[in-house]
Amino acid sequence: MATILIIDDDPQICEILETFIHREGHRPFSRQTLTEGLRQLEKAPFDLVFLDVGLPDGSGLELVRHIRSSQGRPEVVIITGTGDADGAEMAIKNGAWDYLQKPFHLKEIILTLTRALQYRENLKASSAKAPPFNSRGIIGSSPVIHDCLATLAHASQNSANILITGETGTGKELFARAVHKNSARKENAFIVVDCAALPETLKESALFGHEKGAFTGADKRSEGLVKQAHGGTLFLDEVGELAPSLQKVFLRVLQEKCFRPVGGDTELKSNFRLVAATHQNLDQMVTEGSFRSDLLYRLRTVAIELPPLRLHAEDIQELILYHTGKICQNFHREPKGFSPDFFQMLCGYHWPGNIRELVHTLEGAISKAGHEPILFPMHLPNTIRVHVARANLKGPTSVTEAPPAIQLCTPLPPRLKSLPSRETVLIDADRTYLRHLMQVTRGNIKESCRISGLGRTRLYALMKKYKISRLGWTTPEHSELEAPVT
Ligand SMILES: Nc1ncnc2c1ncn2[C@@H]1O[C@H](COP(=O)(O)OP(=O)(O)OP(=O)(O)O)[C@@H](O)[C@H]1O
Ligand SMILES: [Mg+2]
Repeated sequence: MATILIIDDDPQICEILETFIHREGHRPFSRQTLTEGLRQLEKAPFDLVFLDVGLPDGSGLELVRHIRSSQGRPEVVIITGTGDADGAEMAIKNGAWDYLQKPFHLKEIILTLTRALQYRENLKASSAKAPPFNSRGIIGSSPVIHDCLATLAHASQNSANILITGETGTGKELFARAVHKNSARKENAFIVVDCAALPETLKESALFGHEKGAFTGADKRSEGLVKQAHGGTLFLDEVGELAPSLQKVFLRVLQEKCFRPVGGDTELKSNFRLVAATHQNLDQMVTEGSFRSDLLYRLRTVAIELPPLRLHAEDIQELILYHTGKICQNFHREPKGFSPDFFQMLCGYHWPGNIRELVHTLEGAISKAGHEPILFPMHLPNTIRVHVARANLKGPTSVTEAPPAIQLCTPLPPRLKSLPSRETVLIDADRTYLRHLMQVTRGNIKESCRISGLGRTRLYALMKKYKISRLGWTTPEHSELEAPVT
């Protein structure tokens, strides 16, 4: 029996849906405003939420992401009287299961409900059977990163080709490496081919190798990257840059898994798994005629679209804590604490260079702070401070042309008048802070007290309250890349 929430301001719709859901053997609840709906989601986990768009206190569409991240991570089905293509696209991109337009047939609703619940059951059953997935330094608990990781975890269990897309610095290579490390091929090579950097004259021989004497300067036989990837993974980075002649050759290599070295007369075999990545829109390139459609379909057996950081701003804080800890270790510095406005500043920026830009910014700040124990906004580059200051200015004095800054780490849209209770937010913040404090200090209580300013007794009391153990962080053999169980 599943638990289902209906958020719709039309009491009649609520009543009809409740009756049918009940008849299907599930437990329905209904709420008529977003505020009440969110409150209900805080109280108990739900399996599915039917969500209206035009609600008295805001648009349901803006909250799909937030609802998907609530406890139970429910599926969301949009039910709207005013369907439009952009709304449907936004809903699906934000993780909605389906987008239905009113008036709908109840059959349609029940079919959607049954499929969504079946999907959840399948997911539960397969994740119970699947070997544990090591997310190797991939940070983020937002639903969108969670969904990308779920796709990655499934794909790592087979050898299907994967295409990872996303803006620069969103983690394409990190994800590609994670799929290799979680696959049966992990003991073999992970070979990176940067298609944008292949030297024009040598690209065929770099990829496929050459025989001795194949061209001037080929004074000995060489094995190409494709052969080196035998038994492992071949990562074609910036695949949109692959020249048309090589696209044709690669199509054949993917089909036959064999290739001919330059100057060779026999074909060689290589059993590799292909992962490709690009920041370009390959569909558009196909339309424009600069990328082969048959190659794109082969590359994209599994598609992973990594979101820009501004679309999962709720992960910024966690990313800061993780990377600061890592950078301090690399720089042989003591772990740093943070002034609250340091977080605010970083969460208020729009990060056009995504996570890579965030990491570089933190490196710069830590280097600038030297041996000072606390990071302040003063340690950040002026470009970021000026941007955030401008974006925070309201009214006619604001002259920024850059995209609006992200609201302080909260995914809730400003239109929503009622936020989760202050107490809930503070408890969440405390829990996250303590977990990361343990991560940064590797469970060192003395260090944790120093950074947090908490006394030992108060720290222990809070850890007990939130059931946070220091043990997961202290084991020496524990990989820094794995998330410990708290
Ligand atoms: N989810 C994540 N959690 C932690 N760190 C991340 C995450 N995503 C990216 N990073 C970090 O951001 C930096 C850039 O990541 P990566 O090189 O994988 O991005 P990319 O998409 O391949 O970028 P580009 O398009 O510029 O090549 C790396 O330092 C990586 O560790
Ligand atoms: Mg890259």
